[in-house]
Amino acid sequence: MLKKEEGLVPKHVAFIMDGNGRWAKKRLQPREQGHRAGAKKFKEIVKHCAEIGVECVTVYAFSTENWKRPKREVDAIMQLFREYIREAVQDFEKNDIRVLFIGNRSVFDDETKKEMKKVEDLTADRHKTLCIAINYGGRAEIVDAVNQMIANGKTFVTEEDVTREIYSGAVPPPDMIIRTGGEIRLSNFLLWQSAYAELFFTETLWPDLQNEEVDSMIETYYQRNRRYGGV
Ligand code: IPE
Ligand code: IPE
Ligand code: MG
Repeated sequence: MLKKEEGLVPKHVAFIMDGNGRWAKKRLQPREQGHRAGAKKFKEIVKHCAEIGVECVTVYAFSTENWKRPKREVDAIMQLFREYIREAVQDFEKNDIRVLFIGNRSVFDDETKKEMKKVEDLTADRHKTLCIAINYGGRAEIVDAVNQMIANGKTFVTEEDVTREIYSGAVPPPDMIIRTGGEIRLSNFLLWQSAYAELFFTETLWPDLQNEEVDSMIETYYQRNRRYGGV
């Protein structure tokens, strides 16, 4: 297992958790079962990342485009989300992980919004960070940030202003973005923050992802040469 002491670990790893539906289909199960397996895997991977010394993890749980799916599937995902927020505070206590939600919350009912806020408040003093992107869209995030700055009376903005105003303003940009499920695209994830992220794609379906594969991608990450436009 990779260890922080070996200096091999990126600070922020983001995951596009894709492939739940196909995982279920392969087992002749309804897609909802795939999401249930995916939710279980999410907790495992987040804990593993904390154990190897990753300070921040972001996961893409539901996009602004995922509302296009059949109601039954959307309801199942939202149900899993509500179940999850009820256990989040305790679940990540041992790993010292605070939880933040990024995305547009206006779609959630008051009770869910209150629960989300409660999770953020009760975990605020912890030292590692998990950002859950839910009803998240990279474009919407940038537009919301710009509108917020207009509302604040700004007439000219800098990159620093946008960085501060986006939902995840509190955390550094991801060093790595890992997408499971075989598609080679970002699907509107972290558009602003991904400018210099190292991208990793694997055919592995999200519920099948193993800690060892994450470790091996992190090892590859370390061999890449990040130049940020320099030589
Ligand atoms: C990702 O898995 C989870 C969400 C988008 C909520 P998918 O549900 O997209 O799984 P596939 O891509 O259909 O296999
Ligand atoms: C991206 O997966 C969104 C999440 C993982 C939450 P999708 O399955 O929605 O992406 P597309 O439709 O393949 O681009
Ligand atoms: Mg998908």
